[in-house]
Amino acid sequence: MTNLPPSSTRIIPDITSVPRHIAVIMDGNGRWAKQRLMPRVAGHQRGVEALREVVKACRDMGVEYLTVFAFSSENWRRPADEVSFLMKLFLKMLEREVAKLHQNDIRLKIIGDRSRFDAKLGQAMQDAERLTASNSALTLTIAANYGGRWDVMQAVKAMLKEQPQLVQSFTEEDLQPFFSMSDAPEPDLFIRTGGEQRISNFLLWQLAYTELYFTDTLWPAFDRIELNKAIASYQKRERRFGRTSEQLQRNAGQRDQNA
Ligand code: IPE
Ligand code: IPE
Ligand code: MG
Repeated sequence: MTNLPPSSTRIIPDITSVPRHIAVIMDGNGRWAKQRLMPRVAGHQRGVEALREVVKACRDMGVEYLTVFAFSSENWRRPADEVSFLMKLFLKMLEREVAKLHQNDIRLKIIGDRSRFDAKLGQAMQDAERLTASNSALTLTIAANYGGRWDVMQAVKAMLKEQPQLVQSFTEEDLQPFFSMSDAPEPDLFIRTGGEQRISNFLLWQLAYTELYFTDTLWPAFDRIELNKAIASYQKRERRFGRTSEQLQRNAGQRDQNA
């Protein structure tokens, strides 16, 4: 448990020019399809292609973690035929893409409440995770039936199950190992496509100090060039983690002197 990445509210993380961890809300599939007079689900299909390109681009750039929101705990509210299409697409994607991910040394993880998926999909998720578990070029995490509130709740429950004495009092460090993303550093950059500026119950705890980037580009049209724009925006930000700009400049000056 001591090997877990540090929490940004406890220790100031090291900042790298290329974000180590990018989290994405892939939004706008339905509107992309509608603009082309196609059914919404055609947008989801094209969304898989956009994801493929972004995964490749991240791997090439040396991003260590890419976490994408594929299906929220609230997306069950959609029409039944759209939900069922998404489940089938998910299964198809696992069946078709996992071998390629594995060849490219990509580790696949799925986070979210799996109890609502059918047995076949559940099994495919488990097989994909097992096959790719020791890969290390990039960790691709797919959030499916995921909700940020669910994650906080399940973490507290799991912690208390394992350490009932903590019911009296516990710390951030006690809780941290139980989050779905506990082995990843907190996201450096969050991207939401599709024009909405909200979190929609994605990673709530982990986005505490993440840089947020919103674009009107619809997810199926998001490519390497769009990703580079997001990263360029990130690289212009000053990540202060509560400190002043002057403090950061002083530290940078000291580093230059020591070099
Ligand atoms: C995101 O695109 C994909 C999922 C939520 C599964 P949407 O389907 O939300 O597309 P819009 O927002 O309706 O355009
Ligand atoms: C968020 O998109 C979830 C995913 C992209 C999977 P939504 O389209 O469901 O979000 P809202 O409903 O517009 O907030
Ligand atoms: Mg949407």
